[in-house]
Amino acid sequence: MSENVETNYSQRLSLAGRGVVVLGTGAGIGGQVCRAIADAGGRVLAVDLSADAAQATADAVGGIAMSADVTDRDQVAAVFDRAEAEFGDAFYGIVDVVGATVPEMLADSTAESYDKQFDLVLRHAVYVTQLGLPRLAARGRGSAVFIGSLAGVAQTRRLGLYGAAKAAEHHLAKAAAAEFGPAGVRVNGIVTGRILASGGDPNPDTSVLETVTRAIPLRRTGFPDDIAAVTLFLLSDLAGYVTGVELPVDGGISMVTPLPSTQPANRQQ
Ligand SMILES: NC(=O)c1ccc[n+]([C@@H]2O[C@H](COP(=O)([O-])OP(=O)(O)OC[C@H]3O[C@@H](n4cnc5c(N)ncnc54)[C@H](O)[C@@H]3O)[C@@H](O)[C@H]2O)c1
Repeated sequence: MSENVETNYSQRLSLAGRGVVVLGTGAGIGGQVCRAIADAGGRVLAVDLSADAAQATADAVGGIAMSADVTDRDQVAAVFDRAEAEFGDAFYGIVDVVGATVPEMLADSTAESYDKQFDLVLRHAVYVTQLGLPRLAARGRGSAVFIGSLAGVAQTRRLGLYGAAKAAEHHLAKAAAAEFGPAGVRVNGIVTGRILASGGDPNPDTSVLETVTRAIPLRRTGFPDDIAAVTLFLLSDLAGYVTGVELPVDGGISMVTPLPSTQPANRQQ
């Protein structure tokens, strides 16, 4: 086998000696992403609007806490200044988890709801590409992951603006992958399906939840660790030849149609 072939796969999963900035490190997906990075030996700079959330996660994973509003460009610049100060040339990764829905029908949406929705989903992602990725590129290596959404690839009722912003975030990840690839920086997105975070399901109606679960090929909703595990893979050298993908982590829901079968009942497939 050629000397260039690296067959130590468990070693390739390791993030030992590498620093990763995680934006949005609350109890849901972001907290688990931090745990996964720490489990793989990486050091986390846990950033959240809530100083308490950032601190709790940093304490749990032996990382560094920082409070910042990532919709503010200067504060995002301060995050990456801090990452360089803490990690130096070990600064290796960025995971952007921040995002939330402002649910409403398009006909009811306003200039204010547009600003709020796009700030919550897209503005910080753009700042990551402007202020974070160039610093990884300067080191000649790195990996970034954007936590996107199924709503960004398939329309979900009352999530038109959210889906539009997530679709833009998915595209931004691909554009960044093309732009920063030659500098050794990989950029990928996750198409996140229905996740039950620790805050509980946004729709507590169990009959709705049962309907959702029946529609998912794997017959369960996801959990934050499902997203964290794939994020860790994409960050790591195991995914060293993977860039610019929108990887669905959704139990298979994005590849099935909701249309009923038109095949005659007596016809065997
Ligand atoms: N939970 C789901 O079912 C689901 C489905 C699809 C996509 N997603 C996406 O996954 C991501 C995480 O979702 P979650 O359910 O874990 O959300 P969450 O609300 O639990 O976590 C988001 C974190 O971001 C922080 N945050 C919010 N605004 C911020 C700001 N301006 N600056 C810094 N931090 C800020 C919050 O304090 C919170 O800790 C989001 O991008 C969301 O759109 C979630």
